[in-house]
Amino acid sequence: MSESVVVLGLGLMGRALARTLAEAGHPVTVWNRTPGRAPELDVARAETPAQAVAAARLVIACLLDYPSVYETLDGVDLEGKVLVNLTTGRPSEAREAAGWAAERGAEYLDGGIMAVPQMIGGPGASILYSGSREAFDRYRAVLEPLAVPSHLGEDPGMASLQDLAMLTGMYGQIAGFLQAAALVESQGVGVVEFTQTRLVPWMRSMLELLPAWARDIEAKSYATEVSNLEINASGLVNLARAFEEQGVTTELLAPLRDLMARRVARGHGDQSLSSLFEELHPDLHH
Ligand SMILES: NC(=O)c1ccc[n+]([C@@H]2O[C@H](COP(=O)([O-])OP(=O)(O)OC[C@H]3O[C@@H](n4cnc5c(N)ncnc54)[C@H](OP(=O)(O)O)[C@@H]3O)[C@@H](O)[C@H]2O)c1
Repeated sequence: MSESVVVLGLGLMGRALARTLAEAGHPVTVWNRTPGRAPELDVARAETPAQAVAAARLVIACLLDYPSVYETLDGVDLEGKVLVNLTTGRPSEAREAAGWAAERGAEYLDGGIMAVPQMIGGPGASILYSGSREAFDRYRAVLEPLAVPSHLGEDPGMASLQDLAMLTGMYGQIAGFLQAAALVESQGVGVVEFTQTRLVPWMRSMLELLPAWARDIEAKSYATEVSNLEINASGLVNLARAFEEQGVTTELLAPLRDLMARRVARGHGDQSLSSLFEELHPDLHH
């Protein structure tokens, strides 16, 4: 069944969404602040956000940030609409936007896109949604061609929270990779060869540990028979010194070293590395 859809924003992501929806057979009406973007798209173009929104009940916004969503929809009649906001923001912004939409008579779904534009409509892309479950169920089939959809709960902030948590994991990996590359490169080792043959297999095997660490965290049980925090803390001191000797900055590494030292100083050196979690949450300090 085809469903008319409005897409607000034809940035890199907005145009990938609009294209995929049009290819799935839905009549798509788009609006973009700067006219003339993505001329290759076979879609209807509205001159104003109000004109666009009038074209369908389902309105997808994919703009720079939440202020740009408010700016775009300021004064636009949203009564009876379903606003699906795929703009990246924070949980608090998503909750505020849900309230803002409700005041205007609109249902609200917030979404976190776990993909780059090139992945939209293809395998491996997912979008996390939260907010109105009813709206999600009603439009699930329309949203499905964009990326695998998951609804994470009625709390509109939940998609953003888990999106940001996933990005946090990604940035941690990137930080680890960059530091490792800098260290080997400082001694003339080929970064490509090192990455392919040693770092990636090693990081993959380290990832296997995470579910067990997650269980430690939920159980608040940090006993270990492998390498405890004290060993790791001195390992990090050694690592940072090696960085300095090789002329590589310790900016990314030092916070982790200092966190470990603090945990050991609090008397938890015999615990597992996973117990560092306790130092990250201000309410949980022991
Ligand atoms: N690209 C990705 O890989 C990716 C992945 C996941 C999530 N996202 C999220 O998707 C959203 C869009 O990203 P993008 O990659 O499409 O960014 P982009 O290419 O920079 O596009 C930004 C869009 O926002 C519009 N915009 C900016 N300020 C505006 C304002 N004040 N009022 C109205 N429109 C405004 C721009 O319009 P103009 O054309 O007029 O400048 C453009 O359509 C962001 O929240 C981003 O975090 C992107």
